[in-house]
Amino acid sequence: MDAVIVLLGGDGIGPDVTKAARQVMQSVADSYGHRFSFKEELMGGAAIDATGDPLPAATIASCEASDAVLLGAVGGPRWSDPNAAVRPEQGLLRLRSLLGVYANIRPVKIYSELAGASPLRPEILEGVDLLVVRELTGGIYFGEKTRSETSASDVCTYHSHEIERIVRVAARLAAGRRKKLCSVDKANVLETSRLWREVTDRLMAAEFADIELETLLVDAAAMHLLSRPASFDVIVTENMFGDILTDEASMLAGSMGMLPSASLGDSARGLYEPIHGSAPDIADRGIANPCAAIASAALLLRHSLGLEQEATAIESAIESAINAGARTADIVATGEDPISTDEMTDAVIRGLH
Ligand code: IPM
Ligand code: MG
Repeated sequence: MDAVIVLLGGDGIGPDVTKAARQVMQSVADSYGHRFSFKEELMGGAAIDATGDPLPAATIASCEASDAVLLGAVGGPRWSDPNAAVRPEQGLLRLRSLLGVYANIRPVKIYSELAGASPLRPEILEGVDLLVVRELTGGIYFGEKTRSETSASDVCTYHSHEIERIVRVAARLAAGRRKKLCSVDKANVLETSRLWREVTDRLMAAEFADIELETLLVDAAAMHLLSRPASFDVIVTENMFGDILTDEASMLAGSMGMLPSASLGDSARGLYEPIHGSAPDIADRGIANPCAAIASAALLLRHSLGLEQEATAIESAIESAINAGARTADIVATGEDPISTDEMTDAVIRGLH
């Protein structure tokens, strides 16, 4: 097949891991007879430096004309001045909103060989296979903000149609898995959460009666995620809770460097990004773990291009590389030498063949 894929390297380790994902996708294209044309565009801090805008019009135009977008990471200390008029992260939020990708899917897969990289005991990690579905284009991230010398506010709004569509996505995913959905809110305090719970209960009873629904308050969910992670199948939650809980969940897998994400809307075009950030402390050193970006490329092939076999091949290749002992610095055992981003990428490409 022919496909146009936009690559937004962004900042910090973003360009390195995006390059790795591109090499893996190219290798898949060569072996399976596809033609992917890659278009690189500016995004985030790099785009602010070049154009003054974290999401330049040319980038938007390319993304809108593409089949899928793969993003590295945005942000860094260079652009973190609290008084700055523009920030890299604003570009990312605008892009998510413009592409209408309201459903952010973050699978948490444990590689058994990496159990030692997690701070949790191996017996707690046994059988962990969960998916967090995070609402991505609403809530406090997008509400009105005010600021004076001595006070500030961020408004959190949810409409029932936004809750319905994200819960449907999550419930459909649960239907194809272990048929368990956990909805996370803060209904004992927040009005938006009370609406979230009401809409979720109603929709699940009407459309997904065969899916077991559990409801947790977010503080309790944060605890249960560590005490009984294997009991979760699909978790659905609002934008900010999902942001926080997925960083926490990444520690089940041992490193943020392993976890991909897919952001989807009503069309096939999606935005794919590792859940990790730009890691400015290790930028430009060629040592970042590219696995999350490569696994995000697998999700891109699966969800936007419908290439299930190729996606599975990439996921198996990551697993074979890990099983063969390939370890970047974030997942290496104490006393052993880590390999570079390029070496890890080569190990995955070898696993493909
Ligand atoms: C994420 C990131 C972003 C978010 C930042 C960079 C704006 O933390 O994708 O999880 O909060 O959504
Ligand atoms: Mg985050």
